[in-house]
Amino acid sequence: MDGNGRWAESRFLPRALGHQAGAETLRRIVEAAPALGLTTLTVYAFSSDNWKRPANEVTALMQLLACYLESETPNCLRDGVRLSVIGRRDRLDPALLAAVLRAEAQTRGGTRLHLRLAIDYSARDAIRRAALLSNGDALRFEPAITDVPPVDLLIRTGGEQRLSDFLLWESAYAELFFTPVLWPDFTPACLRKIVRQFQLRHRKFGALPPPPLVGQTARWLR
Ligand code: FPP
Repeated sequence: MDGNGRWAESRFLPRALGHQAGAETLRRIVEAAPALGLTTLTVYAFSSDNWKRPANEVTALMQLLACYLESETPNCLRDGVRLSVIGRRDRLDPALLAAVLRAEAQTRGGTRLHLRLAIDYSARDAIRRAALLSNGDALRFEPAITDVPPVDLLIRTGGEQRLSDFLLWESAYAELFFTPVLWPDFTPACLRKIVRQFQLRHRKFGALPPPPLVGQTARWLR
């Protein structure tokens, strides 16, 4: 969800208002996602490196996250959305942590879409922790990193073309899309267009493309 700051600055607004606009965009995308065939949606709301930002921006983001969790929980319940949070929890403000736990508990029955907010998240940190937890047991390593299937489609808005420590293990075969659209301007129509392009990509996962259909081969031999 990159580009909130630039969106605000280009309108001579404080960056926090860009994040607020970004939260509105997320509401619209979550609403549109199930109809586009998405079953799991993970969004990068706050990276572990974002603690390096000025204190006022960090505070505004943390408050916004708590508000989002409170205000969206009823909508998630109504729409069958399961909300969960990935990332470190030990550095979250107690009020935010309480909001996370409430939202997760109340929406755990949602089956239409699994919305995962990455907060104080670092993929390298998640991999390091899984390595420690699994204690050399290869079978326990992957489940210690994630409990959802690998990423199929990864979209970064805002024009940058890097992964910035996001879902590095899970994205081994993800199809990557980079768009210059700033996150607050990203619409369900933008998502629909990317999903269509994704459906046209040939995914081989390291194998060879499938052989042509028998009928086509037979015609070619004749
Ligand atoms: C990166 O854009 C975005 C973030 C660090 C925060 C993302 C947060 C939101 C979209 C809103 C809050 C989220 C929820 C779930 C309520 P940037 O600020 O780095 O933008 P810039 O690259 O234009 O400066």
